[in-house]
Amino acid sequence: MRRSGRHDTPATQARFDVPMSMSRFSKAAPLARMARPASPSRRLSLVPLTLLALALACGDGGPEMVAPACVPDEATYEATLRPLLEQRCFSCHGEEPQFGAPFPLTRYPTLVEGPEGERIVDRMAIRIAEGTMPPVGAPQPELAERDAIVRWASCGALGVEAPTGPSASRPPFSAPADPPAGLTTVDVTAEDYVVGPGDVDRYQDFFFTGVVAEERFIRRFEAVVDDARVVHHLTLERAQPGRAMRYLYTWAPGTGAFEFPEGGIRLGPEDELRLEIHYNNGAALPDVADSSGVRRFVGDPVGTEYLMSDPGPGAFGFVVPARSESSAETTCTVREDVTVLASMPHMHEIGTSFEVLVDGAEVLRLDGWSFENQLFYDLPLALEAGQRLTVRCDYRNASADPVRAGLRTQDEMCFAFTYITPALENFCE
Ligand code: HEC
Repeated sequence: MRRSGRHDTPATQARFDVPMSMSRFSKAAPLARMARPASPSRRLSLVPLTLLALALACGDGGPEMVAPACVPDEATYEATLRPLLEQRCFSCHGEEPQFGAPFPLTRYPTLVEGPEGERIVDRMAIRIAEGTMPPVGAPQPELAERDAIVRWASCGALGVEAPTGPSASRPPFSAPADPPAGLTTVDVTAEDYVVGPGDVDRYQDFFFTGVVAEERFIRRFEAVVDDARVVHHLTLERAQPGRAMRYLYTWAPGTGAFEFPEGGIRLGPEDELRLEIHYNNGAALPDVADSSGVRRFVGDPVGTEYLMSDPGPGAFGFVVPARSESSAETTCTVREDVTVLASMPHMHEIGTSFEVLVDGAEVLRLDGWSFENQLFYDLPLALEAGQRLTVRCDYRNASADPVRAGLRTQDEMCFAFTYITPALENFCE
């Protein structure tokens, strides 16, 4: 829908923009009926819907809009929707859900159960239209397929006319399918970690010390996914004595391995590793004990040494005011020539877009940020001493409270985690 004068109230006009994805819905009225109280993790993404509903209900003093009851057609589900969902959704939402998906989408009656506005079909219409489902990293439906799902689920009231959801100016970084020969593997994993029924959005940390006996290079990272039904995503970080914690690798469904073309990341006997696993047992499965983690392929410390550097405003010193759109940005000067291999943007829940610029020219841009979007992008780039490197994060804070930079999930961050060589601690200041 387009924001038009007719629907604006002074309260909404001044402060809120309809998110991009919403602005491309083809019709608006049923949104008013679809807004519902959100689970805490989805709170922010749903606030604009509620506001939109208010604007629609009372914005112009005209007749209140009430959409007719919508029960998506069963015959169409069986004939066209089910085959489509089978291809695009059942890898997670099958009879036995995987990767933290909360329910199967395999049987028509369960989709239309419950009060209108809270049924699975209502959530399907919103999440597919927003472009936040399937999660980033998983294969995405074509535009026409998304349109078909949203039209069916909303009884033709909504459609998807233009691409929505995350898009990046560079392709994700991809690694060869098989690891190089002659390396040894070292796993760091949870050990039968119990994920209770209904444990949703549990971020669990596991710490490891003394993982190698002598200096090694990590050549390649791969996720080890044990109980795929509950593992939503995971990250691996390294702490070295006297230095800041650094991200090494991150995985979400669809993310592949990360492999350095040659050389790798140095790992010493003193280093500590932190594995963080995001669990989702929304399907309330009983008796889940998970041993997922990361497999590292390590070899002799020879060849190019990389370091993960983290230019950007970071996790301190900025505030996103309540009910605002604003940016956090830093610019630093490259101290010595370095080569960049790949870069991973990192923000939390209220990020919208992300940019890296060199001397003012864009080298990486990501739109439609979602928190699950923790991918490395292919960014072969030679930076010369004296060049200016800018990292900018854009945020939309629809809530009534300011969001501060900080370390908790509900705080904000702005990093460009970037693999560089040579391994200079502070290559940009
Ligand atoms: C790679 C795995 C994966 C795929 C593929 C996937 N989903 Fe999901 N889905 C999830 C996970 C994990 C959640 C729970 C977390 C969330 O809500 O983001 C979820 C949640 C949902 C929800 C509940 C959302 C809410 O806001 O209450 C709906 C509806 C949904 N998915 C529909 C779909 C549809 C339709 C497709 C196919 C077009 C699909 N999903 C494909 C993993 C997946």
